[in-house]
Amino acid sequence: MKKIISITLLIVMIFSISVSAFEQNMKKFEVPPLKYDYKALEPYIDEQTMRLHHDKHHQAYVDNLNKALDKYPELYGKSLEELLSSIDTLPSDIRASVKNNGGGHYNHTFFWDIMAPNKGGNPKGNVMKAIDRDFGSFINFKKEFKQAALDRFGSGWAWLLKDNNGKLSIVSTPNQDTPIPLGLKPIIALDVWEHAYYLKYQNKRADYIDAWWNVVNWDKAEQLYNQS
Ligand SMILES: [Fe+2]
Repeated sequence: MKKIISITLLIVMIFSISVSAFEQNMKKFEVPPLKYDYKALEPYIDEQTMRLHHDKHHQAYVDNLNKALDKYPELYGKSLEELLSSIDTLPSDIRASVKNNGGGHYNHTFFWDIMAPNKGGNPKGNVMKAIDRDFGSFINFKKEFKQAALDRFGSGWAWLLKDNNGKLSIVSTPNQDTPIPLGLKPIIALDVWEHAYYLKYQNKRADYIDAWWNVVNWDKAEQLYNQS
């Protein structure tokens, strides 16, 4: 009898450990909290926009991504980057949802971190040198970046991206497409969906872009540039 109880206990223990390991690896995606207050980017980006953008729009991308992955829970074992870099291998019925909602999650997570209060100004260090080298000057870079952001018809993003040799380029992606398929590393990114600026700037995307330079976290950009 004692032996049976011991074996049963052992089986329960092994089962519990397996379930716990499964749960750890199969974690659903979550919106990361902002590292600053919702009103910290005022007057350039208003509190109400930040609340809606982070708590409602970003949350909706994450909820819809999880909803798609609920059909294939084994996919929770993959990182967001892994999912987005292997879209074509995913089950066809969730491919579009993972691309759009996973892309929304990836892009917004990057966006919150590349902004911070009391930042803006000029880039420093290696990213500044690379901007001078690849765009002639910071002023010219800002002009080209703004144009890319303005030229994005409808919704999308403007990116400053780095290749494996450290060369920088400006790219605009539509919708919630990410730079992952391009094999380039994001250094800064600007969300030009109307939900990012309409409450404060209405249809004046150019004014939003001009204001946004005041919250760009160039220290973070420098960190990203220096990572391999
Ligand atoms: Fe957005």
